[in-house]
Amino acid sequence: MSRLDSFIRRLEAQRRCLEHVVRLVAELPGPVFELGLGNGRTFDHLRGICPHREIFVFERRVAAHPDCVPDPEHLFEGPLEISLPRARQRFGATIPMIHADLGSGNFELDQRTSVYLATQLPGLLCPAGIVLSDQPLPYSAAEQLALPPEVESGRYHLYRAA
Ligand SMILES: C[S@@+](CC[C@H](N)C(=O)[O-])C[C@H]1O[C@@H](n2cnc3c(N)ncnc32)[C@H](O)[C@@H]1O
Repeated sequence: MSRLDSFIRRLEAQRRCLEHVVRLVAELPGPVFELGLGNGRTFDHLRGICPHREIFVFERRVAAHPDCVPDPEHLFEGPLEISLPRARQRFGATIPMIHADLGSGNFELDQRTSVYLATQLPGLLCPAGIVLSDQPLPYSAAEQLALPPEVESGRYHLYRAA
C-alpha cells in the first residue's frame, strides 16, 4: 500500500468512526468535545453531522482555517493539562462523546498524552458516553468497542464508559 493509500484509509476510518459514534450516542444529551483542532477538518465534519449539539474544542494553539475555528465560548485554548481540569469543573461527567485526535507522530509524547487523557476521562464522560481516539488509551475502566465493519483493526480506538 502506498503512503497515499494509507493516508486516505486513515481519514476514511476517522470519518466512519465519527459517524458511527454520533449514531451510538444519539439518545444521550450533552455537548461533544473535540480534542485537537489542528486544521479543523474533523471539527468541521462534526458540526455537519451533529448540528444540534454544542461542540467544545480543545487546542494548544489555534492555527486552523478561519472558517473552522469555533467561537470563543466554545474554545479551550492552551494545553489539555490546564483546560481539561477546567472543563471537568464546569461540566462534570456529562459528556456523551469525546473525539481525541491528538497524535503528533512522536511515540513517547503521544503515549504521555494518552496516559494523561485516560486519567481525565472518568470525570468527563457521562454513563455510556464514548471516547474515540486516534491513539490507544489506557482506560481500563471502560469497555473497548468494536470498530465499524469497514474499518481496519487498530486504525481507531473506541471506549464506552460504564
Ligand atoms: C492531528 S492534529 C488534529 C487534527 C484535526 N482533528 C483535524 O482534523 O484537522 C493534533 C492537534 O492536537 C493538538 N494537541 C496535541 N496535544 C495537545 C495538548 N496536550 N494540549 C492541547 N492541544 C494538543 C495539537 O496542537 C494539534 O493541533
